[in-house]
Amino acid sequence: MDSGPVEKVDALVLFGATGDLAFKKLFPSLACLVARGDLDMPIIGIALPDWSQDKFKDHIADSLEQHGDEVALQGLERMLEQVRYVDGDYADDATFKKLKKALGEAQHPAYYLAIPPSLFGLVVGHLKDADCSGGARVIVEKPFGRDLGSAQKLNAELDSVFPGSAVFRIDHYLGKEPVQNLIYFRFANAFLEPVWNRHYVQSMEITMAESFGVGSRGVFYEEVGAIRDVIQNHLLQVVALLTLEPPSRHTLDDVRTEKVKIFNAITPIQPSDLVRGQYQGYRDEAGVSKDSQVETFAAVRLGIDSWRWSGVPIYVRAGKRLHSTVTEVAVKFKKPPHRVFGDERGMAHNQLKFRLSPDIGISMVTQIKSPGSGLLGSAQELTFHRSAETRKINPYERLIKDAINGDQTLFARKDGIEATWRIVDPVLDLSSEAEPYEPGSWGPEAAERVGPAGGWQNPQVEK
Ligand code: BG6
Repeated sequence: MDSGPVEKVDALVLFGATGDLAFKKLFPSLACLVARGDLDMPIIGIALPDWSQDKFKDHIADSLEQHGDEVALQGLERMLEQVRYVDGDYADDATFKKLKKALGEAQHPAYYLAIPPSLFGLVVGHLKDADCSGGARVIVEKPFGRDLGSAQKLNAELDSVFPGSAVFRIDHYLGKEPVQNLIYFRFANAFLEPVWNRHYVQSMEITMAESFGVGSRGVFYEEVGAIRDVIQNHLLQVVALLTLEPPSRHTLDDVRTEKVKIFNAITPIQPSDLVRGQYQGYRDEAGVSKDSQVETFAAVRLGIDSWRWSGVPIYVRAGKRLHSTVTEVAVKFKKPPHRVFGDERGMAHNQLKFRLSPDIGISMVTQIKSPGSGLLGSAQELTFHRSAETRKINPYERLIKDAINGDQTLFARKDGIEATWRIVDPVLDLSSEAEPYEPGSWGPEAAERVGPAGGWQNPQVEK
């Protein structure tokens, strides 16, 4: 492993401080860290010229008002004492001279790049030239590149300035409580391992549905689409946590190494294993082209070339303006090998389901005898449920805290990022038309073509 910084960060610098992500997610998370005493250092925002210190502070207060919880609001006052604003163009040396001055005595700043990936190289180059990169670490937002080639280029740009142990590639899904529970549940319970393989598992199905559209992110979304936005990163991470081999310990490189092995075993997606959809009305959204073919929905069938998973299809679908906002994993087991009770009509597959959002849940679909004289039964769910409100810490707060402490366990490694791009690379930028679907539906009917026999299983959500 590379040698790199182990020292605690002593200043946090946010590039893209006036952007959407900072407003909706980062400021509220930073305020929570301040409130809990985990971010006692200067916080420097960098973005557009012409913003005053006061305007920046009002912006942070607005962000917390709209998106912060009680803990974030408790941190507001202290946070406003810690923040500074540096305005300027990322292409201009002068911006980085101002930054250097604002950093003062700080020896180990962390730079959070909440900016388009096309600017990463420019910014890290300037950080180096302005003598701001030594002893520092850098936190980079997704999407990490646009495809395999650009991700490799970005990795090389970062490598030329920072050691691997100073680069934190964020995927906020990895900071989510129920996503961490996937690996915990798998390896903290003994009963699962004997059945967690191709002999017992028939298929896996992952649905990430969002009932809202692209909203104010039309320009961004036109550049990405559903595959780059959530499949290459969030959902492939979920697939990895469901299928990786047991790491010897839950430590940094054990887990990340197992993930890379499983990513490398996933067959790159072919166009015949993909259906792309677009919700009706998407082309009327602000910033969207009138003849856009960008997908707001994607359904794919994945296969893993490994001893454990050979022949077990993994069905993944994600989309905007669907029926509900819900993310769920369903692991479907094979039916019993012999019909002890005769007719198996109505006999369900056993399933283990993980609800990842909006609430947190695990349920087992089992066949249970119905009351009465005959030996007939029905499928019943045995459920563990926790409401989202029980969450103690939000994903960004957890990940930023880890980055400050130098813990990379929940961050994507360079080879992991490249391996995930390799999986989606053959189906990026297809010229085929995206299938239209009605808002409020579960996506285009054509998605059945790559789905499980018997159809996709729609998660039940109480409205
Ligand atoms: C982001 C995507 O990374 O994840 C969004 O850019 C998506 O399009 C979001 O809505 C989903 O994350 P969460 O935490 O809101 O479920």
